[in-house]
Amino acid sequence: MPLKILSVVGARPNFMKIAAISEAIREYNASSRTAVIEHVLVHTGQHYDANMSDMFFNDLELPSPNLFLGVGSGSHSVQTARIMEGFEKVLLAENPDIVIVVGDVNSTVACALVTKKTYCTGETGRDFIPKLVHVEAGLRSFDRTMPEEVNRVVTDALSDLLFTTEESANQNLKREGVPAEKIHFVGNVMIDTLLRYRLKAQESTILKDLQLYENGEPKPYAILTLHRPANVDNRETLSKMLDAFLDVSRNIPLVFPAHPRTLKQIQEADLGDYFVDHFMDGPEPWDSRVRIRLVPPLGYLDFLHLLSLAKVALTDSGGIQEETTILGVPCITLRENTERPVTLTHGTNVLVGSDCKKIIEEFSRITNGERAILDPPQFWDGNAAKRIIKTLMREQIPDNEISVSARTEVGLGNTVQHP
Ligand code: UD1
Repeated sequence: MPLKILSVVGARPNFMKIAAISEAIREYNASSRTAVIEHVLVHTGQHYDANMSDMFFNDLELPSPNLFLGVGSGSHSVQTARIMEGFEKVLLAENPDIVIVVGDVNSTVACALVTKKTYCTGETGRDFIPKLVHVEAGLRSFDRTMPEEVNRVVTDALSDLLFTTEESANQNLKREGVPAEKIHFVGNVMIDTLLRYRLKAQESTILKDLQLYENGEPKPYAILTLHRPANVDNRETLSKMLDAFLDVSRNIPLVFPAHPRTLKQIQEADLGDYFVDHFMDGPEPWDSRVRIRLVPPLGYLDFLHLLSLAKVALTDSGGIQEETTILGVPCITLRENTERPVTLTHGTNVLVGSDCKKIIEEFSRITNGERAILDPPQFWDGNAAKRIIKTLMREQIPDNEISVSARTEVGLGNTVQHP
C-alpha cells in the first residue's frame, strides 16, 4: 500500500517550499523498487494572479495541482473559512495518511485545523485522523499582532510532526511543551530550492530587461520588497518609508517588484509620484530620474537572479531574510522583529523597523562597507526535504525494518536521538 501524502500550497512563499518536498518524494519513489509514496498536491488559490502563482509552477517545475480550491482574496476570516470549507471536502474524498502544510500563511492554518478535525476512512473501513506535518515549525516573532504569528502558533499546537529550520525554533517548541520526539531539526526546504535553481537562474534575462547592464557588467542596484500590512496599510507609515527609499535611491537605483497589496495601497493613497514605472514610463536612462523603479511581481528565477546580484536588499519578507543569508547579499529588514534570528547571527540581516533614519544610516553603512563571509546555518545545505521524507517513511515503518543506512544517509538532524 503506498503512503498517501497530501501537501498544500496557497500563497507565493509556499511554492518554493513544496517544490523541494515534491522533488524529494519523486526521488524517493525513483530510488525504491515500487512507488511507495502517492503525492496529492492541493492549491487553495489564496494567491491566484499569473505572476503570484502560475509563473512559480513553471519556474519550479512543480506538477500541476491535483486539486484547486479557488478561494481568492478576502478578509482573514473569510479567506480562512473558505479554505476550510473546500479542504474538508478534499480530505473526505482523498483520505490521505499525511497532510503536509508549510510556512505561516492563512492556507497553512486553515488546512491544519481541518486536518485535525476530520475523520477519514481507510481501506478497511477504519476511521482515522490524518497525521499533520508542519514544515518550518517553531519560528516565533513573539508579536501576536502579526497574522503569520497566530498562524504559526496554532499550526504548531495541532501538528503531529514538526520540522524545524533553526535551533531557535527547537527551543521555542520545547518551551511551549511540544514533546521532543515530535520535533525534527532538518534544515530549510526553501534553501533546498534556492541551491537547486541557483545556476538555472543565471540564464534569466531580467537584468537586461531592466537595463541593468553596462558594458556587459551589472550596474550597482538595490532591491526593495514591501507587503506587510503593518508597513503598507497606513498612508503615513508608507509615505515616510518611501521618503527614506527615495533618499537612498539617489545613490543607487532601487528596483521594486511590487506585491498587488502594496500596489493597491500606493494607488489608493495617491503615492504614485515616488515611482517610475519601468514598463509604463520606461525605458529611461537610470540616472536621469531619481525615483524608485516599479516592476511587476517577478517569477522565481528572475527574482533569484536579481536578488543574487543586488548590492543590498530592503525587505519585510521572511523568506528574503533567509535567501540573502545564503546568497551573502546584505539584507535590511523593515521590521522591528524577526522570527528567523539565525539570519541575524549567521546571516547578513539587520532589523531597522520603519524608522527612516535607521534605513538611511544602515543603507549607507552597508554600501560603504565590506561584505562578511559567514558559514551557512546548520542543515541549510540542500538536503532538508530529503530528511523530511526519510523521517516520514521511518515513522511509518516499524523501526526494525529500517536499515542503518536509511537513517544516516542524509544526516538526520532531529532533536530526537536516533541510534
Ligand atoms: C500572504 C501571507 C504572507 C506572505 C505573503 C507573500 C497570510 C496571512 N499572509 O500575504 O505571510 O508573506 O502572502 O506574498 O497568509 N492579491 C492579488 N493577487 C494575488 C494575491 C493577492 O491581487 O494573487 C491581493 C489582494 O488584493 C489581496 C491582497 O493582495 O487582498 C493580500 O493577499 P493575501 O493573500 O490576503 O495576503 P498577502 O498580503 O499576500
